[in-house]
Amino acid sequence: METVVSGIRPTGNLHLGNYFGAIKNFIRMQEENNCYFFIADYHSLTTHPTPENLHGNVKQVLAEYLATGLDPEKATIYIQSDVPEVIELYLLLNMNAYLGELERVTSFKEKVRKQPENVNAGLLTYPTLMAADVIIHKAAKVPVGKDQEQNLEMMRTFARRFNRMYKEDYFPIPSAYNFGEALVKIPGLDGSGKMGKSEGEGNAIFLNDEPKVLQKKIMRAVTDAGPTEMDQEKPEAIENLFTLMKVVSTPDTLEHFDDLYNKCEIRYGDFKKQLAEDMLKFTTPFRERIRDIYSNTDYLRKVAAQGAEKARESASKTIKEVREIIGFRQF
Ligand code: TRP
Repeated sequence: METVVSGIRPTGNLHLGNYFGAIKNFIRMQEENNCYFFIADYHSLTTHPTPENLHGNVKQVLAEYLATGLDPEKATIYIQSDVPEVIELYLLLNMNAYLGELERVTSFKEKVRKQPENVNAGLLTYPTLMAADVIIHKAAKVPVGKDQEQNLEMMRTFARRFNRMYKEDYFPIPSAYNFGEALVKIPGLDGSGKMGKSEGEGNAIFLNDEPKVLQKKIMRAVTDAGPTEMDQEKPEAIENLFTLMKVVSTPDTLEHFDDLYNKCEIRYGDFKKQLAEDMLKFTTPFRERIRDIYSNTDYLRKVAAQGAEKARESASKTIKEVREIIGFRQF
């Protein structure tokens, strides 16, 4: 059993891309590993949310992850700010993190470019907080997407540096969690690229979309004038809709519309109607569970308390040992 840690950004409204990207893997991971999944609410302070927004987002995202299958009996699910030991390790790591290396991080440079009016120290030290998140549990593995590879490299640097400085193999050097099979990439509805929240209204299908909203989004998805030659290759926008159908419809349904396309007999209206119907069938159980869990504050409180207790047990053990190593010792 390996220890795996992953942070979850507290932005609610999960979409189909999140589900088939991160979440399905988390669900698989929790079966075979000692997983810690936490909601990274300290990290989110870099953007200065209002207290109401912060609290609401944490609650929403916790409800959504539980509704999609994260299991508090299998994994340790907690809220980062319930585990203040992380902050002590963050401070200690910051003492050995250099301005130059932090300034060179691509995501930091991007933030500086995009929001020059809010370049705060939290943004600069985002990688040391991430490292603290992971090594506080002496984790071996971190599931990371392409955008987080540099942050993983920084975690490894800080863990190694600590070990070298105190001449002790204390922290395991975390590496990327490898998923056996390739991840399914979910395209958006706007005819290009991948499903994402920032790609504009209507591009993403959220697990908690109301049926009417979902239907409207699919009926408005980008298509074209239709195929003109038998068995022609599908342009990207059409291929994307077929990919979505492959994910939510039966193989028979998919084949049926694929045949119609190849014979130039497809009617996009019918195709989209079927896609919307199957999509709704897929999302409805999620939408209902999200609603039920979100309104069950007692349950959410219990999950958070149980997670915090388990996470603090592991974190305080590490902190105690680290303090001893560093020289914070009793007389
Ligand atoms: N930075 C991650 C993201 O933007 C969230 C995160 C915070 C994280 N701490 C982490 C991920 C530790 C993995 C490990 O998605």
